[in-house]
Amino acid sequence: MSAKPRIAVVGTGWWSTEFHIPSLKKYQDCELVALIDPNGEKLKKAQDMFGIPSGYASVTEALAEIKLDGAIIATPSAMHYPVTKELLENGVHVMVEKPFTIFASEAYEIVNLAKAKSLHLTIGYTFQHTNAAKALKQALDNQEIGEILLVNGLFASMAEAYYRGVPEQYKGIFNWAITGPDPQTFSDPKLAGGGQGQTQVSHAIGMILHAINQRATQVVAFMENRDLNVDLVDAMAFTCEANIIGNLGSTGNLRDGDKHQQEFRYYGTKGYILHDMRNGQLLVRNDKGNQYEISGEDIGDIYPALNTSRHLVDLITGKAKINLAPGLQAAWAVEFLEAAYKSASTNSIVKVKPNIRSGK
Ligand SMILES: NC(=O)c1ccc[n+]([C@@H]2O[C@H](COP(=O)([O-])OP(=O)(O)OC[C@H]3O[C@@H](n4cnc5c(N)ncnc54)[C@H](O)[C@@H]3O)[C@@H](O)[C@H]2O)c1
Repeated sequence: MSAKPRIAVVGTGWWSTEFHIPSLKKYQDCELVALIDPNGEKLKKAQDMFGIPSGYASVTEALAEIKLDGAIIATPSAMHYPVTKELLENGVHVMVEKPFTIFASEAYEIVNLAKAKSLHLTIGYTFQHTNAAKALKQALDNQEIGEILLVNGLFASMAEAYYRGVPEQYKGIFNWAITGPDPQTFSDPKLAGGGQGQTQVSHAIGMILHAINQRATQVVAFMENRDLNVDLVDAMAFTCEANIIGNLGSTGNLRDGDKHQQEFRYYGTKGYILHDMRNGQLLVRNDKGNQYEISGEDIGDIYPALNTSRHLVDLITGKAKINLAPGLQAAWAVEFLEAAYKSASTNSIVKVKPNIRSGK
């Protein structure tokens, strides 16, 4: 590896141009060497704005011409699997946006490939980079609330125009650097895999399964598309291996400009944890009367979207010792969502198939 990891950003749309490219461009620990996107116009705009001379229409073209150590993948979700696979097969460390993949078989294949090749694989789960999430994970790993009994969550967000294929509706609200998402990215089921489930519940269930370090065993879900091609409103219940039961509600229909609401509660045999993910707050209380909080100045950045790409660089250089958003737990979130979509479409309880699971 060269002195500084040589990184490419794959996909030069909304999220990359607003966060990943500017973040890496300013990061002294890496070299941002190339941008990759089949849309020549978007590629050129991003190259010009950020001053990156090397641009390619595909990963294949880029790999044929330049040496890469790492890549950030922010393509439409259905493309995560083929793009990530090609990069890993060519020895490149990867950060993949969420949802990691659409299908569990794809996610486990990628996890196993990264492991076999000893390459870093981290997922763009921004919330897992917050101080509250780190404290949540530590509290649960240390069994501060005893055995977990119940997980309850709510994730309400403003995303409906994305699912409707009219992202321009949010132009005045979001601070797009160059562009919003393509109209199809979140509205076409073939590209997005679904609506609120893939786009937003993926954050929620990713956080939960990572924090409790358990995979789901059964999922039952109800989903409402209303007049859309993808789900807008989801209600889900689940069981996990360690007799944990949980439920989650999510809607993408908050009105334009409404603040998101993202609240999660964990109840154990010895206490409980309240996690306000939107506001970066955490309250841990156990039966010994111990109580502590992540609040005030301890909160830090409530949505550190500039950190996820740098985390890949830090994993490559060894500066980061712990992967804050590992692939295996993200694969559990993928299998959860696949089961949820199946449950909603078949009106049945879906057991997470043992044959698509991979050992812990
Ligand atoms: N972590 C977060 O909070 C967060 C927020 C927004 C988006 N995302 C995720 O980031 C991904 C991209 O979302 P977006 O809003 O930037 O979408 P976008 O539509 O703005 O950009 C996607 C880009 O990928 C390009 N592309 C398509 N196929 C490609 C390929 N094979 N190789 C290279 N580029 C390709 C498209 O031309 C487009 O420019 C999605 O998976 C989305 O879920 C994550």
